[in-house]
Amino acid sequence: MRALLLVILGLAVGAMGATSALSALRQGTPFHDGVMAVMQHHMGVLQANVRAKQCDAKGSASHLARLRETAGDIREAFPDMEPAFAQADDGLLKALDRAVAATPGTCEALAVALKPVGDACQSCHQRFR
Ligand code: HEC
Repeated sequence: MRALLLVILGLAVGAMGATSALSALRQGTPFHDGVMAVMQHHMGVLQANVRAKQCDAKGSASHLARLRETAGDIREAFPDMEPAFAQADDGLLKALDRAVAATPGTCEALAVALKPVGDACQSCHQRFR
């Protein structure tokens, strides 16, 4: 019984910690939400194009370039984050540099280029979101 209470207390404290970390982020400007929303938009369009099998090289290049540019703002949008956050950010930037350099001309190539990008988004979210 006592052990169970401690577990529940631990969960409650953990949840409180998580909420206060997030609200600390939210007390800043809406800038970081904007950066994420813009990246989500371009990622979403590219993924929808792959699903629709309509991946023209020019459109893909432009969405990838916008994604890369916006990702360059992550560090300014989340100031004072721990070094592991910057590493996660570097992972995304590298994946995007490669995707831009690959200039995917087919849906297959675009899907291959997007995979590490999506993984980089996800791996940071798992830790920090
Ligand atoms: C280096 C870490 C990191 C990377 C990389 C990252 N994100 Fe995020 N993202 C976050 C954090 C932290 C939040 C939570 C921010 C908050 O709740 O205020 C977030 C929130 C979001 C949200 C919700 C925004 C909102 O309004 O609350 C979306 C959508 C999103 N990210 C999309 C993406 C996409 C798409 C990528 C990859 C192209 C990506 N993120 C890469 C850290 C990251």
